[in-house]
Amino acid sequence: MSMDISVAWNELKKKVSECQKCGLCKTRNNTVFGEGPEVNCKVVIVGEGPGADEDASGRPFVGKAGQLLTNILENGGNIPRNSLYITNIVKCRPPENRNPTRDEAQSCSEYLEAQLLLLHPEIVVTLGNVPTQFLLKTTQGITGLRGQWIDWRGIKMFPMFHPSYLLRNESRAVGSPKYLTWQDVKSLKEKIDTLQQGS
Ligand code: URA
Ligand code: SF4
Repeated sequence: MSMDISVAWNELKKKVSECQKCGLCKTRNNTVFGEGPEVNCKVVIVGEGPGADEDASGRPFVGKAGQLLTNILENGGNIPRNSLYITNIVKCRPPENRNPTRDEAQSCSEYLEAQLLLLHPEIVVTLGNVPTQFLLKTTQGITGLRGQWIDWRGIKMFPMFHPSYLLRNESRAVGSPKYLTWQDVKSLKEKIDTLQQGS
């Protein structure tokens, strides 16, 4: 990694670890910056915000929803989790796992923007309503947006259901959220493979 970019990453990580820009700083135990390849990163996954396990460990998607996400990627899509960059709209846990407010998302978006500038991915996968609606500036729901390739600032955006939603909807019947997600992760894999052929 070049000097400049590793310095930029370290400065950004330090800034987030000390951040007090919104009220979520008062109740967090750890900030959750994100993790994944910092160079040659093709795909970024954007979740909602840390839960209890993420707040305790400082790592994204390590609790039950995170384990399901890893399973979907690796067993549904044959996509190694560590080949993707994984982060969230807000870097601090909202109390009682409530959704982050618009203001909290807006305050924190500076950091996601900086991560995306440094990573310049080809694909951004948004999980659930919160990141999808925030980035697209829409009120349209995830059920209507998931599984579609949407141009977002020249990046291919691909909304999918949030794994927490899938934990509450166990059915695998045709047309169920889980069934659709297993289809979506295969579309994601096909797109990633197409990119790699072109490079
Ligand atoms: N849910 C999220 O949206 N993000 C995490 O990091 C963990 C659970
Ligand atoms: Fe700062 Fe984001 Fe944490 Fe708010 S959620 S305190 S903006 S890092």
